[in-house]
Amino acid sequence: MKLFVTGGAGFIGSNFVHYWLKKHPEDSILNFDKLTYAGNLENLKDVETNPHYTFIQGDICDPEAVHRAMQGSDVVVHFAAESHVDRSILDPSLFVKTNVEGTAVLLNSALEHKVQRFHHISTDEVFGALPLNSELMFTEHTAYHPHSPYSASKAGSDHLVRAYFDTYGLPITISNCSNNYGPFHFPEKLFPLAITNLLEGKKVPVYGDGLYVRDWLYVEDHCRAIDCILSKGEIGKTYLIGGMSQDIPNVEIVKKILTLMGKDESSIEYVKDRPGHDRRYAVDWSMIHRELGWEPTESIDSGLAKTIEWFQTNESWWKRVKSGAYQEYYKKQYET
Ligand code: NAD
Ligand code: DAU
Repeated sequence: MKLFVTGGAGFIGSNFVHYWLKKHPEDSILNFDKLTYAGNLENLKDVETNPHYTFIQGDICDPEAVHRAMQGSDVVVHFAAESHVDRSILDPSLFVKTNVEGTAVLLNSALEHKVQRFHHISTDEVFGALPLNSELMFTEHTAYHPHSPYSASKAGSDHLVRAYFDTYGLPITISNCSNNYGPFHFPEKLFPLAITNLLEGKKVPVYGDGLYVRDWLYVEDHCRAIDCILSKGEIGKTYLIGGMSQDIPNVEIVKKILTLMGKDESSIEYVKDRPGHDRRYAVDWSMIHRELGWEPTESIDSGLAKTIEWFQTNESWWKRVKSGAYQEYYKKQYET
């Protein structure tokens, strides 16, 4: 099978490429990635000589480049996106362009090439926010209610993908996943920012009161869920993927990181809140468990320990990522 993977040089995409080549060595992968600030070929160093792996630098908003590259592909796995909520607040139009228009370009090309499957990677953020201290969870039937330009653009892309199934019969599946963490996580997101700041002797910025709740999932568990959907998922269907069995507020997770890294609470710095900050996410992943047999294998404690160890042993990776343009973004986001 030949997979056309978009955004394979990003955090989840590169973990997926590693996962797939190991698990399905007979398959081949074409990684189509623009290499924005978040795309990093260093993430794929150990597979670049694998004869089953090819990289093409290209933009999903460029119909001709996409059409040429997708030729001969059986399955599209679409990760490419602008993915950071805070950046979407600074520059929403880029998110509409990449996440909505780019997805439309891919869908058109997938139709023309008659691919066997178009799998769209989406997020639990499309459902909006849940109240704190409640048992409510997002399910496959929850209505869309996005709050940030990022989640609104992802919601738009989900609707387009479903429209191509309903209108043209394109064989699609969608997964809406919760917060991933693990190796190659870009240090603008909470966990890698916290870990690398502590390794640099800096403080961890916690937004607002810190009592926001996310549903954390170790990235390899996400990759395995996508594999289950590609091999056993029902065409036209949406699957929710999540990892937590209990709510843990951001500040409590940060304290776990502090303990694992031998630091105390003086390393926490409360900073201004994110506008439109969603209070709580919680994903009911019982449908994918029941129908496809998937469940997460890492707990938050085991996953965090592995992740911290990865960042400790891959200092040159994150030091390079945190130099250059990253510094300007950090200033804009945290020092105003
Ligand atoms: P990321 O920001 O780390 O990587 C995005 C990748 O897409 C980068 O390699 C980038 O170069 C590429 N890209 C961006 N614009 C492009 C374009 N126009 N053409 C081609 N490539 C382009 O993102 P991530 O965290 O790995 O997320 C991957 C996908 O998973 C996204 O669709 C995101 O919405 C979704 N998602 C992420 C999470 C999470 O916790 N990170 C959770 C649920 C869903
Ligand atoms: O829920 C899935 C989503 O998870 C994905 O769709 C997004 O692509 C991904 O970026 C992530 O979004 P979040 O906004 O939840 O992740 P982030 O790591 O930016 O923030 C996690 C929580 O931590 C959130 O409540 C905001 C808070 N936070 C974040 C940063 C960067 C802080 O308190 N301090 C920070 O410095």
